[in-house]
Amino acid sequence: MAGRIPRAFIDDLLARTDIIEVIGSRIPLKKAGREWKANCPFHGEKTPSFTVNQQKQFYHCFGCGVHGTALSFLMEHDRLAFPEAVEDLANRAGLEVPREGGQAADPRDRQLDDLYGLMTHVDQHFRDALKENDRAKDYLKQRGLVGETAARYHLGYAPAGWDMALKKFGATDAGRQALLTAGLIIERNAEQEKSSSPGFYDRFRDRIMFPIRDSRGRVVGFGGRVLDQGEPKYLNSPETPLFHKGRELYGLFEVRQELRHIERLLVVEGYMDVVRLSQAEIHYAVATLGTATTPDHLNRIFRVTSEVVFAFDGDRAGRQAAWRALETCLPFAKEGRQLKFLFLPDGHDPDTLVALEGKEAFERRLEGSLPLSEYLVKQLSTDINLASIDGRARLAELAKPLIARVPEGIYRELLVDRLAREVRMPAPRLMSLLGAGERAEPRSLPQSRNHSARPRLSSGRGSVLKQTLARLIQQPAVARVIKDPESLRLTGDRGLAVLAELVDMLHVEPHLSSAQIIERWRDRPEHDRLSELAALALPDLDEAAAERELLGCIPSLLAGAGPERRVDELIEKAELEGLTEEEKRELVRLQSRPRT
Ligand code: CTP
Ligand code: MN
Repeated sequence: MAGRIPRAFIDDLLARTDIIEVIGSRIPLKKAGREWKANCPFHGEKTPSFTVNQQKQFYHCFGCGVHGTALSFLMEHDRLAFPEAVEDLANRAGLEVPREGGQAADPRDRQLDDLYGLMTHVDQHFRDALKENDRAKDYLKQRGLVGETAARYHLGYAPAGWDMALKKFGATDAGRQALLTAGLIIERNAEQEKSSSPGFYDRFRDRIMFPIRDSRGRVVGFGGRVLDQGEPKYLNSPETPLFHKGRELYGLFEVRQELRHIERLLVVEGYMDVVRLSQAEIHYAVATLGTATTPDHLNRIFRVTSEVVFAFDGDRAGRQAAWRALETCLPFAKEGRQLKFLFLPDGHDPDTLVALEGKEAFERRLEGSLPLSEYLVKQLSTDINLASIDGRARLAELAKPLIARVPEGIYRELLVDRLAREVRMPAPRLMSLLGAGERAEPRSLPQSRNHSARPRLSSGRGSVLKQTLARLIQQPAVARVIKDPESLRLTGDRGLAVLAELVDMLHVEPHLSSAQIIERWRDRPEHDRLSELAALALPDLDEAAAERELLGCIPSLLAGAGPERRVDELIEKAELEGLTEEEKRELVRLQSRPRT
């Protein structure tokens, strides 16, 4: 296992990162005064309430209350785990992520490195072979591809013959083993072994080769197409340590190479479709690899964009596949996301269609694709007579299990609204009939206009501490006026201990950004509260005024410290979010203590 990422590295990384760039490369940001604004990517909205503050290196949405650092943003928006988010920022900054206890020297990691290396060489081998084979080049030409497109997708050719790759890369036992693990050669079974020469043979022979690249551009597998009528038409790499068919999306790496901001992705069925669309300047197509769309695919997709269109043949098989895709999509339907379905005319796929009618006409089709909600209602209503009450009840019945799979929130409400129109029933009534729950999660509810989700200072006694912490997180330099943090710690009050720790930190490093401060608390229980304080609306004060304010708070913090403050804290928490059993006991104990 790799060791922990050192804190100092995260500090350094954040210091070299600009949150405006990180967020701005994913959603369009507009400068508004000292902050940057956008429509919030985490909830549906028409007027921007998502703000990013460059000085704090922190974002916050007034609408739904989300907030955090560049790392939090990557975790939420790109759905990355913390180490992946760090990796992402480090790549941007051109830094190697160090691990405590040195680099991982896991032999498995080394083996993987070797396999990636092998795949790169084999990829090059196929590309070179294409250049030398007129038949293969003619085939691509005849399919309408130009050299530039072939180069962009690293198209290649696996020469005819049983041991071309084997001879070139499998001269040693280790080489052969690597080829086998990478799925590039096949071991003859015992049966065959009697008749022919023992050993191995190439998996891909006399085929056009499509390398499948992962999100970092490393070749993890191949698809190979016959040049004429042979069977099977396409042959893919088997599952290997590098390649998992249900996870990869063909063409996603190339999309990311081509587009800085991916407005939408088009999911098609075939390699050729992706390549041909890209040649027609439609650079946002990806393909599943001969499998149905999986949740893994959807996770990948929504990491990079909020809109996805699935293209299907208009035939029966296409419709079946589309419905299956819809079912897989339901748990991913959330506000801010668009999921659409495009049905192509019978006998066409995106490849033939775009060749026939060109980019504009094809994109017009995309504009006319069916939103998930429309497709769902339309599909369920086929064979149902909606003029009759029975028919409408039947529709509601059929929709029930599907709607139950959509996460609670605006999207689900809109879906129920749509259905309610169809079955001519008031939405709330339908909602309760469906048992889908009438209340959405608070986080995904839109905020009414006069109520901002920006945390406000309450008037409770805990508010002085909150205000002090918030000021320090947002204006770290002013910590210098607190000369004696030790006195805060001596009170034994937990909140003041955090304050003291923060002050100590800022005495040494007064130039930390809010984001750097928050990241230092990431793994600790106070992280969420402190993170909220970074987003808290504070009066705008210059340094001198902020320092006076801070000094003014200290006496009341000290005076209120100790058991009294803890009681206040617990009462406040009880009102806001409720207490754990342990906290309840603590409160009873504190309240029944002898007064001095
Ligand atoms: N596929 C596969 N194995 C097969 C057939 C198909 O993995 N035996 C996958 C490939 O990813 C292929 C996709 O399913 O690209 C679609 O297959 P199909 O519609 O049969 O082919 P096209 O993509 O139209 O291929 P072409 O245009 O080259 O004939
Ligand atoms: Mn085709």
